[in-house]
Amino acid sequence: MGSPFTVRRARASDVPAIEQLVAPYVQRRILIGKERVAYYESIQEFQVAEGPDGILVGCGALHTLWEDLGEVRTLAVSADWLHHGVGHAILEELQNAATSLGLKRLFCLTFEVDFFEGHGFRPIGETVVPPEVYAELVRSSDEGVAEFLELARVKPNTLGNTRMLKLLDPAPATAASGAEAPSAEASSAD
Ligand SMILES: CC(C)(COP(=O)(O)OP(=O)(O)OC[C@H]1O[C@@H](n2cnc3c(N)ncnc32)[C@H](O)[C@@H]1OP(=O)(O)O)[C@@H](O)C(=O)NCCC(=O)NCCS
Repeated sequence: MGSPFTVRRARASDVPAIEQLVAPYVQRRILIGKERVAYYESIQEFQVAEGPDGILVGCGALHTLWEDLGEVRTLAVSADWLHHGVGHAILEELQNAATSLGLKRLFCLTFEVDFFEGHGFRPIGETVVPPEVYAELVRSSDEGVAEFLELARVKPNTLGNTRMLKLLDPAPATAASGAEAPSAEASSAD
């Protein structure tokens, strides 16, 4: 028997369903709420999981932060479908997308520490970009970037969350082109 759900890239028409998936977690301040237009603007970042009846049961997005760095955000699974492997399957697709974009590190801000540790993420304490990159990122108006930088204005959103990072395996086709050593920060909190 095949999987009871499939994961695919999101379409623009999925936005209302994505909003519904995310809404209960936004209400509980687990995820950041966004305007509908922000979902349309970032729809290319999203993967969704579709149940047997075509209803969306999960979503997640990969946001590029910098040359080597991405963020897993808006990963949400419908309450009826928790613990069925949906989160795992979406995260796998987001990681594949990150690898094919050439990203080497994936950041996540989350309460779901066990889930992400099970997928190779490790808690980190400090910002993982050098000062010159920080100085450029700070110009972003994106709330998620602000959380990444731990700006004071979004502190209430980030309280209790854990900052986590994963080093990605290089894409197979580029493995010969120099697998540099991972940065020290990623494993510092082990
Ligand atoms: C984090 C989240 C996405 C995980 O979704 P999920 O679909 O339940 O994830 P999975 O089913 O892949 O894995 C969850 C657990 O179920 C287990 N599991 C997976 N398939 C299973 C199955 N068929 N039967 C029983 N258990 C199963 C996994 O081993 C995992 O166990 P663990 O928590 O002990 O590691 C979900 O809890 C969620 O939406 N959280 C709120 C939003 C959030 O915090 N997002 C992260 C920040 S962006």
